Parts: sequence; structure tokens; C-alpha cells
Amino acid sequence: MDGAPVNGASLAFPEAERQAVYRAIYQRRDIRNFRPDPIPDDTLARIVRAAHHGPSVGFMQPWDFILVKDIEKRRQVKELFDRERDAAACFFDEPRRSAYLSLKLEGILEAPVNLCVTCDPTRAEVVLGRNSMPETDVYSTCCAVQNLWLAARSEGVGAGWVSILKLPQLRGILGIPPHIIPVAYLCLGYPVEFTDEPGLQRAG
Ligand SMILES: Cc1cc2nc3c(=O)[nH]c(=O)nc-3n(C[C@H](O)[C@H](O)[C@H](O)COP(=O)(O)O)c2cc1C
Repeated sequence: MDGAPVNGASLAFPEAERQAVYRAIYQRRDIRNFRPDPIPDDTLARIVRAAHHGPSVGFMQPWDFILVKDIEKRRQVKELFDRERDAAACFFDEPRRSAYLSLKLEGILEAPVNLCVTCDPTRAEVVLGRNSMPETDVYSTCCAVQNLWLAARSEGVGAGWVSILKLPQLRGILGIPPHIIPVAYLCLGYPVEFTDEPGLQRAG
């Protein structure tokens, strides 16, 4: 510090850095169309490190990150998605069923890498502040996902969340024990584009 009096405003980032934070927030998109280019390891490491700096109940850090590059595993996840999407289509009448089925809701095989973010509710025996709301472990994991999503955007990397998956089957494919919750299955890669508005909004 240079001896200047400290007030609330002096703790703010400089203007350009503030604008960069808001830009990442406003220009983040859920991405389903990817270019095949791989994400360099150091870029991926920075993105996952940002996730790891998310807030967590009682500093529990209940998350783990499973990198899924293996194409055979991803094919199995894609088959699981296809089955679930078709099952969900039964809840719509025409013409909404066809509209739903025409939406692209994942990029599992096109994205160079998939990442499953999990939550371990048993990570710590006692977690400060979690007695009243045990589900705060999952909330914490979602905070990590959001950090990851924003950091990815700043790196020009797109992330797409795929939740049209049945958890027991996903656990089976990835070898995840039954007590661990797969919170987010993400497709990561360089996007074809970052659109101004959400894809679902654009598709009406
Ligand atoms: C918990 C969660 C689950 C989601 N699951 C899917 C999904 O299975 N498929 C998909 O295409 N988008 C999924 N999304 C992305 C949303 O559709 C998207 O965030 C929303 O349409 C707004 O678009 P934007 O993220 O580009 O602003 C999911 C988002 C969240 C937060």
C-alpha cells in the first residue's frame, strides 16, 4: 500500500479488469458445437484450477474432476444421452416433440474432452455449517462448475453442460462409486462460435 486511505472503492479492480470479469459473465454460453482442436494441457489446468478455487461449505471442497478423453467411453455416454433424450421426447406432443428432437443438446463426441465434476458427500466427517442443509455439498460443487465455465470463456474455451443422463448408468461407464454424485457432465473445447444470446432462446 502507498499510504493512501483505504475505503471500499479502493479495493475494486482497475476499470479494464472489472470489464473483463463482466465480459466473461455476459459472454459465457452453453456450447454444443465444437471445433476439433485440442485444448492445450496448461490451458485446461488453469481452467480446472479456477474451478478448484470456488467457494465451498465449511471449506469442504467436495469436488473431483474426471477427465474423459477416451472415445469409447464417450460413445457410451453419447448412447446413454440418446436413450434419455428419446425417453424425454415422449412427454411432448407433436409438433413440440419434433422441435425438441431437432435441438442439439450436447457435444459429447465433437468436443476434444469431456469433464465430469463429482461431489463426495463423505469427504469430511464434520463439515462446519453443513448440519442444517446437507445438500450444500452439491451447491458448492455447482459453484466450482460456474468458476470453471467463466474461466473457460476467458480462455476462449466453450463448455456445455449435459444433464440428460441417468446417474447410475453414468457411474457405471466412468467407474464412479455409488456414494459419489456426478453433478455436472461437461463438454469442453473451442466453440464454432460464442453467440450473443443463449442457443435455446435463439431456437425459440
Ligand atoms: C444444471 C444445468 C443442466 C443443463 N443441462 C443441459 C443439457 O443437458 N443440454 C443442453 O444443451 N444444455 C444444458 N444446460 C444449459 C442450458 O440450457 C443453458 O445454460 C441455458 O439455455 C442458457 O444458455 P447459456 O448458458 O448459453 O446462457 C444446462 C444448464 C445447467 C445449469
